[in-house]
Amino acid sequence: MIGCGYLGAVHAASMADIGHRVYGLDVDAARIATLGRGLAPFHEPDFDELLHQNIQNGQLTFTTAYEDLDDVDVHFLALGTPQRDDGLGADLSYIHSALDSLTPLLKARNGRTTLVVGKSTVPVGTARGIAERLEEIPGVKLVWNPEFLREGFAVKDTLRPDRLVYGVSDVADETAEVHMLDAVYRPLLDLEIPRRVYNFESAELVKVSANSFLATKISFINAISELCDITGADVNDVAEAIGMDDRIGRKFLRAGIGFGGGCLPKDLRGLISRAGELGAVDSFAFLRDIDAINTGRRDYVVRLARRLLDGEFDGQRIAVLGAAFKPDTDDVRDSPALDIALTLYSEGARVKVTDPVALDNVRKRYPALHAEDSVENTVRNADLVLLLTEWSEYKQLDPAVMKELVSEAKIIDGRNVLDLEQWRAAGWHVEALGRS
Ligand code: UGA
Repeated sequence: MIGCGYLGAVHAASMADIGHRVYGLDVDAARIATLGRGLAPFHEPDFDELLHQNIQNGQLTFTTAYEDLDDVDVHFLALGTPQRDDGLGADLSYIHSALDSLTPLLKARNGRTTLVVGKSTVPVGTARGIAERLEEIPGVKLVWNPEFLREGFAVKDTLRPDRLVYGVSDVADETAEVHMLDAVYRPLLDLEIPRRVYNFESAELVKVSANSFLATKISFINAISELCDITGADVNDVAEAIGMDDRIGRKFLRAGIGFGGGCLPKDLRGLISRAGELGAVDSFAFLRDIDAINTGRRDYVVRLARRLLDGEFDGQRIAVLGAAFKPDTDDVRDSPALDIALTLYSEGARVKVTDPVALDNVRKRYPALHAEDSVENTVRNADLVLLLTEWSEYKQLDPAVMKELVSEAKIIDGRNVLDLEQWRAAGWHVEALGRS
C-alpha cells in the first residue's frame, strides 16, 4: 500500500484483515513510526483495533523503504491528490513521484506478473497515461479501482463497500488483471458485493461524479434553505417530504453550513477544472455555483452571528461547538466549522472552540484559536453559541444546564439538529438555518 493517509492506512489494515500479507509504505517517517507501533495517526472508529491486531499477527508491516516491496505482487497506490496551489485542478505529483520510486522495482521482477492498482481520486484520463508509462515494463498490469469510503465509516466501507469498480485498459472478459484483483477481494466478492469492470475513463469519472453529485445535493438543499428562511418554510420538512420520493432520497439533504473535508470540495473543483480542459466549460458552470453556494453558507452564518450580536463582534465572546468537518472524525481539512470560527476571530470576536476529538489538530494548525477541552468551559460566559459540527453529544445537550453557563442564551444551530421547541421553551433564542 503506497501512501498511508486515511485511505491507504485503512485499506492496508483491511487487506491484512482479509488474509493478505501487507506492507504499508509512506515517505512520512513519523507517520510510519506511529502506525508501526500500532497507533492510529487519526481518529477513525474501529481502525485502532484492526491495525493493532494485524500488526500483532504479523500480517501488516509499515516501512518507508521501497526496497521492502521488491517481492510484492499487488501494489496499491493510495496517494493524496490535493487541490493544486495554482488552480482548481488536482495535484498529481505524489502519484508520479511514487511511480518514479516504484518503477525500478517493477523492472527488476523480470516479467513476473505484477498488478498496480490505483485507488487515488484522479482526473479522467490519468490512468491511461500511467498505463502507457507502465506498458514498457513486461508483466505489469494496471487497474484503476476508485475508493468510496467515508471518513468515520472507513473500516466498514472498506470491508463492506456498496460496490467495487475496476477500471481497465480494455474491457474484456477474463483478463489477468481482473483475476488478480478478484483474488485480492475474494472475501468481499463472496459477500456478493457488486463488482463492475469498466474502462479507465468510466472508473475515474464514477468517483468524481459521485462526489460532485453528493455536493450538488447538499448545495441544492442549502439554496432551498435560504428560501425557507425568507418565507417561513422549514427546510427539514421540505427535505423529509422530497426525500420520500425514492428517485430523490433523503440522504445528503441535511441543510446547514455545508460540506467540507478533504474530498467533496476538491473533487468538485477538480471536475470543473478537468471539464474545462476537455472543452466542456459551459456544461460544468453549474458546479461553480454549487461551490459558491457552499462557501456562501459560511458567510451566511457569520452575518447571522453579527446580527445576533447587534452588529458588533469586537470583544464579544463566541463559543463554537465542533471543529471537525463532520462528526466521528478528527479531520479538520476545509472544515466549515473552523472556517467560520476563524472569520469570527479575525473580525475581533473572542472565540473558544471545542470538539470531542479534533482539538489536537486545531491546536497544531490554528494556534490562534482558543481550544477548550470541555463544553462547559467553552460556553461559560459566552454571548453567543454556535453548534457547527453535529457530534451526538452536542445534539443531546441540556438547554437548561447550558443556560446557566452562558452570558446570553443565543445559539445558532448550523447543522439543524437541535429540538427547537425544547430549546426555546428553556428560554433560548435559537436560529436554525432554514427553519426560521
Ligand atoms: C466523501 C464521500 O461521501 C465518500 O463516498 C468518498 O469516498 C469520500 O468523500 C472520498 O472521496 O474519499 P467524506 O469526505 O468522508 O466522504 O464525507 P461525507 O460524509 O461525504 O461528508 C462531506 C461533507 O458534507 C461534510 O462536511 C458533511 O458535514 C457535509 N454534509 C453531508 C452536509 O452538509 N449535508 C449532508 O446532508 C451530508
